[in-house]
Amino acid sequence: MHIFGVDIGGSGIKGAPVDLDRGDLAEERFKVLTPHPSTPDSVADGVREVVAHFGWTGPVGITFPGVVTGGSTIRTAANVDKRWIDVDARALLSDRLGGLPVTVLNDADAAGVAEMTFGAGRDRRGTVILLTFGTGIGSAVFTAGELVPNSELGHLELNGHDAEKHASTKAKDDHDLSWEHWAHRVQKYLAHVEMLFSPDLFIIGGGVSRKSHKFLPLIEGIKAEIVPAELQNNAGIVGAAMRAAQQG
Ligand code: BGC
Repeated sequence: MHIFGVDIGGSGIKGAPVDLDRGDLAEERFKVLTPHPSTPDSVADGVREVVAHFGWTGPVGITFPGVVTGGSTIRTAANVDKRWIDVDARALLSDRLGGLPVTVLNDADAAGVAEMTFGAGRDRRGTVILLTFGTGIGSAVFTAGELVPNSELGHLELNGHDAEKHASTKAKDDHDLSWEHWAHRVQKYLAHVEMLFSPDLFIIGGGVSRKSHKFLPLIEGIKAEIVPAELQNNAGIVGAAMRAAQQG
Protein backbone atom coordinates (compact mmCIF):
# COMPACT_ATOMS: atom_id res chain seq x y z
CA MET A 1 0.00 0.00 0.00
CA HIS A 2 1.15 3.55 -0.73
CA ILE A 3 0.32 6.59 1.43
CA PHE A 4 1.72 10.10 1.05
CA GLY A 5 4.09 11.51 3.70
CA VAL A 6 5.18 15.14 4.13
CA ASP A 7 7.87 16.40 6.50
CA ILE A 8 7.63 20.09 7.42
CA GLY A 9 11.04 21.28 8.59
CA GLY A 10 12.72 24.58 9.45
CA SER A 11 14.45 24.69 6.05
CA GLY A 12 12.42 22.50 3.71
CA ILE A 13 9.03 20.89 3.13
CA LYS A 14 9.58 17.49 1.53
CA GLY A 15 7.32 14.65 0.61
CA ALA A 16 6.77 11.50 -1.42
CA PRO A 17 4.43 8.55 -1.68
CA VAL A 18 5.62 5.89 0.77
CA ASP A 19 5.60 2.15 0.22
CA LEU A 20 4.35 0.97 3.61
CA ASP A 21 5.42 -2.63 3.09
CA ARG A 22 9.05 -1.66 2.58
CA GLY A 23 9.04 1.44 4.80
CA ASP A 24 10.69 3.39 2.02
CA LEU A 25 9.84 6.09 -0.49
CA ALA A 26 7.99 4.75 -3.52
CA GLU A 27 9.25 7.65 -5.64
CA GLU A 28 12.03 10.18 -5.35
CA ARG A 29 10.97 12.86 -2.88
CA PHE A 30 10.16 16.43 -3.88
CA LYS A 31 11.18 19.42 -1.77
CA VAL A 32 10.30 23.10 -1.61
CA LEU A 33 12.01 25.61 0.66
CA THR A 34 10.15 26.50 3.85
CA PRO A 35 8.79 30.03 3.33
CA HIS A 36 9.90 32.85 5.62
CA PRO A 37 8.00 33.85 7.61
CA SER A 38 6.75 30.27 7.99
CA THR A 39 3.12 31.23 8.65
CA PRO A 40 0.36 28.60 8.58
CA ASP A 41 -0.90 29.93 5.27
CA SER A 42 2.44 30.02 3.46
CA VAL A 43 3.54 26.61 4.78
CA ALA A 44 0.16 25.13 3.76
CA ASP A 45 0.83 26.42 0.23
CA GLY A 46 4.21 24.66 0.30
CA VAL A 47 2.57 21.40 1.38
CA ARG A 48 0.06 21.76 -1.44
CA GLU A 49 2.87 22.25 -3.96
CA VAL A 50 4.66 19.09 -2.77
CA VAL A 51 1.51 16.94 -2.85
CA ALA A 52 0.38 18.39 -6.21
CA HIS A 53 3.78 17.55 -7.73
CA PHE A 54 2.77 13.88 -7.54
CA GLY A 55 -0.91 14.41 -8.41
CA TRP A 56 -1.71 12.56 -5.16
CA THR A 57 -5.38 12.19 -4.20
CA GLY A 58 -5.35 9.84 -1.15
CA PRO A 59 -4.64 10.22 2.59
CA VAL A 60 -1.66 12.35 3.65
CA GLY A 61 0.42 12.16 6.85
CA ILE A 62 2.22 15.39 7.74
CA THR A 63 4.89 16.09 10.36
CA PHE A 64 5.17 19.39 12.22
CA PRO A 65 8.22 20.61 14.19
CA GLY A 66 6.29 21.26 17.43
CA VAL A 67 3.80 19.69 19.83
CA VAL A 68 0.73 18.32 18.02
CA THR A 69 -2.22 17.04 20.03
CA GLY A 70 -5.02 14.84 18.76
CA GLY A 71 -3.45 14.45 15.30
CA SER A 72 -4.43 18.01 14.64
CA THR A 73 -3.82 20.94 16.99
CA ILE A 74 -0.47 22.72 17.11
CA ARG A 75 0.60 23.65 20.65
CA THR A 76 4.19 24.89 20.26
CA ALA A 77 6.28 26.39 17.47
CA ALA A 78 9.89 26.83 18.64
CA ASN A 79 11.45 27.06 15.17
CA VAL A 80 8.55 28.14 12.98
CA ASP A 81 6.25 31.17 12.99
CA LYS A 82 4.39 31.53 16.32
CA ARG A 83 1.11 32.08 14.47
CA TRP A 84 0.94 28.25 14.25
CA ILE A 85 0.10 27.98 17.95
CA ASP A 86 -3.48 26.73 18.50
CA VAL A 87 -4.07 26.27 14.77
CA ASP A 88 -6.14 23.24 13.77
CA ALA A 89 -3.50 22.03 11.31
CA ARG A 90 -5.52 19.05 10.13
CA ALA A 91 -8.41 21.30 9.08
CA LEU A 92 -6.12 23.91 7.50
CA LEU A 93 -4.02 21.41 5.53
CA SER A 94 -6.90 19.18 4.51
CA ASP A 95 -8.74 22.23 3.22
CA ARG A 96 -5.64 23.39 1.29
CA LEU A 97 -5.33 19.90 -0.21
CA GLY A 98 -8.86 20.01 -1.58
CA GLY A 99 -10.36 17.91 1.23
CA LEU A 100 -7.86 15.00 1.30
CA PRO A 101 -7.79 13.19 4.68
CA VAL A 102 -4.87 14.53 6.72
CA THR A 103 -3.13 13.41 9.91
CA VAL A 104 -0.55 15.60 11.63
CA LEU A 105 2.07 14.53 14.19
CA ASN A 106 5.31 15.78 15.70
CA ASP A 107 8.32 15.38 13.38
CA ALA A 108 10.52 13.47 15.83
CA ASP A 109 7.63 11.20 16.83
CA ALA A 110 7.14 10.40 13.13
CA ALA A 111 10.84 9.64 12.66
CA GLY A 112 10.74 7.44 15.77
CA VAL A 113 7.71 5.48 14.57
CA ALA A 114 9.51 4.75 11.29
CA GLU A 115 12.80 3.79 12.95
CA MET A 116 11.06 1.47 15.42
CA THR A 117 9.45 -0.47 12.58
CA PHE A 118 11.90 -0.28 9.71
CA GLY A 119 15.17 1.04 11.10
CA ALA A 120 17.53 1.08 14.06
CA GLY A 121 14.79 0.38 16.63
CA ARG A 122 13.37 -2.73 14.93
CA ASP A 123 12.58 -5.45 17.50
CA ARG A 124 13.82 -3.30 20.41
CA ARG A 125 11.36 -3.66 23.29
CA GLY A 126 13.01 -1.75 26.16
CA THR A 127 13.08 2.02 26.56
CA VAL A 128 14.28 3.56 23.32
CA ILE A 129 14.83 7.29 22.79
CA LEU A 130 15.28 8.71 19.32
CA LEU A 131 16.80 12.19 19.21
CA THR A 132 16.87 14.23 16.02
CA PHE A 133 19.60 16.86 15.75
CA GLY A 134 18.88 19.65 13.26
CA THR A 135 17.50 23.19 13.56
CA GLY A 136 16.25 22.04 16.98
CA ILE A 137 16.47 18.81 18.94
CA GLY A 138 13.44 16.53 18.61
CA SER A 139 12.70 13.47 20.72
CA ALA A 140 10.58 10.34 20.54
CA VAL A 141 10.32 8.09 23.60
CA PHE A 142 9.25 4.43 23.29
CA THR A 143 8.78 1.74 25.86
CA ALA A 144 7.83 -1.79 24.83
CA GLY A 145 7.46 -0.39 21.31
CA GLU A 146 4.81 2.18 22.36
CA LEU A 147 5.31 5.88 21.71
CA VAL A 148 4.86 8.47 24.47
CA PRO A 149 3.92 11.38 22.16
CA ASN A 150 5.23 14.95 22.28
CA SER A 151 8.09 14.32 24.71
CA GLU A 152 10.00 17.57 23.81
CA LEU A 153 13.31 16.56 25.40
CA GLY A 154 15.10 19.11 23.21
CA HIS A 155 13.93 21.80 25.61
CA LEU A 156 15.48 20.35 28.75
CA GLU A 157 17.72 22.85 30.49
CA LEU A 158 21.42 22.24 29.95
CA ASN A 159 24.07 24.54 31.49
CA GLY A 160 21.36 27.14 32.03
CA HIS A 161 20.32 27.03 28.35
CA ASP A 162 17.51 25.49 26.40
CA ALA A 163 19.35 22.27 25.38
CA GLU A 164 18.62 22.65 21.67
CA LYS A 165 20.18 26.13 21.63
CA HIS A 166 23.37 24.52 22.91
CA ALA A 167 23.56 21.12 21.24
CA SER A 168 21.54 21.17 17.98
CA THR A 169 23.41 21.07 14.67
CA LYS A 170 22.22 24.66 14.18
CA ALA A 171 24.18 25.58 17.32
CA LYS A 172 27.20 23.75 15.85
CA ASP A 173 26.90 25.74 12.60
CA ASP A 174 26.02 29.10 14.18
CA HIS A 175 28.99 28.98 16.56
CA ASP A 176 31.30 27.20 14.14
CA LEU A 177 31.97 24.41 16.66
CA SER A 178 34.43 21.62 15.83
CA TRP A 179 33.11 18.04 15.84
CA GLU A 180 34.99 17.52 19.14
CA HIS A 181 33.45 20.55 20.79
CA TRP A 182 29.96 19.74 19.56
CA ALA A 183 30.28 16.02 20.49
CA HIS A 184 31.18 17.13 24.01
CA ARG A 185 27.95 19.11 24.22
CA VAL A 186 25.93 16.21 22.80
CA GLN A 187 27.57 13.90 25.36
CA LYS A 188 26.51 16.20 28.21
CA TYR A 189 23.02 16.31 26.82
CA LEU A 190 22.79 12.52 26.46
CA ALA A 191 24.08 12.10 30.02
CA HIS A 192 21.28 14.36 31.23
CA VAL A 193 18.59 12.48 29.31
CA GLU A 194 20.08 9.19 30.53
CA MET A 195 19.92 10.38 34.14
CA LEU A 196 16.18 11.01 33.69
CA PHE A 197 15.12 7.94 31.64
CA SER A 198 17.85 5.23 31.73
CA PRO A 199 17.04 4.13 28.18
CA ASP A 200 18.45 0.92 26.72
CA LEU A 201 19.06 2.55 23.37
CA PHE A 202 19.58 6.03 21.95
CA ILE A 203 18.95 6.42 18.22
CA ILE A 204 20.60 9.53 16.78
CA GLY A 205 18.59 10.95 13.88
CA GLY A 206 18.36 14.10 11.78
CA GLY A 207 20.49 14.97 8.77
CA VAL A 208 23.66 14.71 10.86
CA SER A 209 23.09 10.96 11.37
CA ARG A 210 24.74 10.56 7.95
CA LYS A 211 27.96 11.86 9.53
CA SER A 212 27.68 9.84 12.73
CA HIS A 213 31.21 8.44 12.23
CA LYS A 214 32.50 11.98 12.85
CA PHE A 215 31.01 12.38 16.30
CA LEU A 216 29.58 9.17 17.79
CA PRO A 217 33.08 7.71 18.42
CA LEU A 218 33.90 10.86 20.44
CA ILE A 219 31.03 10.35 22.88
CA GLU A 220 32.02 8.60 26.11
CA GLY A 221 30.54 7.57 29.42
CA ILE A 222 26.96 6.87 28.29
CA LYS A 223 25.67 3.48 29.47
CA ALA A 224 22.97 3.07 26.85
CA GLU A 225 23.83 1.79 23.40
CA ILE A 226 24.00 4.67 20.86
CA VAL A 227 23.35 4.03 17.19
CA PRO A 228 22.68 6.26 14.17
CA ALA A 229 19.21 6.26 12.64
CA GLU A 230 18.96 4.08 9.55
CA LEU A 231 16.25 5.85 7.56
CA GLN A 232 18.13 9.14 7.89
CA ASN A 233 16.40 12.02 6.19
CA ASN A 234 13.35 10.04 5.08
CA ALA A 235 12.26 8.83 8.51
CA GLY A 236 9.80 11.69 9.05
CA ILE A 237 8.11 11.16 5.67
CA VAL A 238 7.82 7.40 6.25
CA GLY A 239 6.53 7.79 9.83
CA ALA A 240 3.95 10.38 8.77
CA ALA A 241 2.61 8.03 6.10
CA MET A 242 2.50 5.14 8.60
CA ARG A 243 0.45 7.23 11.00
CA ALA A 244 -1.94 8.34 8.25
CA ALA A 245 -2.45 4.68 7.31
CA GLN A 246 -3.31 3.82 10.94
CA GLN A 247 -5.86 6.60 11.11
CA GLY A 248 -7.58 5.04 8.07
C1 BGC B 1 10.42 21.32 18.80
C2 BGC B 1 10.07 19.86 18.68
C3 BGC B 1 10.64 19.31 17.38
C4 BGC B 1 12.12 19.59 17.30
C5 BGC B 1 12.72 19.14 15.99
C6 BGC B 1 11.91 21.49 18.71
O1 BGC B 1 12.25 22.84 18.82
O2 BGC B 1 9.96 21.86 20.03
O3 BGC B 1 8.68 19.68 18.70
O4 BGC B 1 10.41 17.93 17.34
O5 BGC B 1 12.38 20.96 17.46
O6 BGC B 1 12.13 19.78 14.91
